[in-house]
Amino acid sequence: MITPLTADALVLDTPRLRLRPYSPLDIDIACAVLCDPEVTKFVCDTATPEAVAKIMLQITRRGAGGRVGMWCAELRDTGEKVGDGVLTPIPVEGTETDWAKLVPEAYPDDPIEVGYMLKRSAWGQGYATEICARLLRFAFEATTLDQVVACTDPDNAASQRVLLRCGMRDCGTGRAYAEELPWFEITRAEWCAAQASNQ
Ligand SMILES: CC(C)(COP(=O)(O)OP(=O)(O)OC[C@H]1O[C@@H](n2cnc3c(N)ncnc32)[C@H](O)[C@@H]1OP(=O)(O)O)[C@@H](O)C(=O)NCCC(=O)NCCS
Repeated sequence: MITPLTADALVLDTPRLRLRPYSPLDIDIACAVLCDPEVTKFVCDTATPEAVAKIMLQITRRGAGGRVGMWCAELRDTGEKVGDGVLTPIPVEGTETDWAKLVPEAYPDDPIEVGYMLKRSAWGQGYATEICARLLRFAFEATTLDQVVACTDPDNAASQRVLLRCGMRDCGTGRAYAEELPWFEITRAEWCAAQASNQ
């Protein structure tokens, strides 16, 4: 039995951002991200607003008492939505996240990946690093996960920099999204050791 987290415990602050569980009302930022071919270039097919509307209920599912799912990232100062961050089961042979694996009473069996997407006007300001670092902290402080993984397109150097900066280990390549992709991992022990050495 997994104790559900309260709504407050799922709101995660960073120095400049607030992460809160994605809601169907976040269709505006979902479209700003998923309908822009520059943003989706290394991640997925570009969607139409109609297609985004159809998936809002799926992508707002949460698993493990709320601990696994997608967060909306907004500026703490102004409330402007800048993008999203995820802790979600990584697909191996599938080409998309299987949102049906998110159920309230269990962790998905698959490894959990950290990910993020920012609208174009929010690039280049270090926001992805804040999102990724905060989601890793949440993963190791508020869940029982022993490790978090990540993968990127081979050409997505900016995302690889974000993962390394957040302490993830370059593990060569791994299979995900039905491809061999650059693969990164961090274990609970590694994350705790990094926190201890930063104090
Ligand atoms: C990839 C993405 C998340 C990066 O986020 P960001 O907050 O804009 O990242 P930053 O601009 O702070 O850059 C991160 C690092 O990559 C470097 N970088 C940025 N663009 C780069 C490029 N084209 N080539 C190489 N390095 C690059 C930056 O210099 C920075 O390096 P540093 O950590 O050594 O300072 C953002 O561009 C994005 O949302 N892209 C579209 C969606 C996406 O690709 N998501 C990731 C899926 S794996």
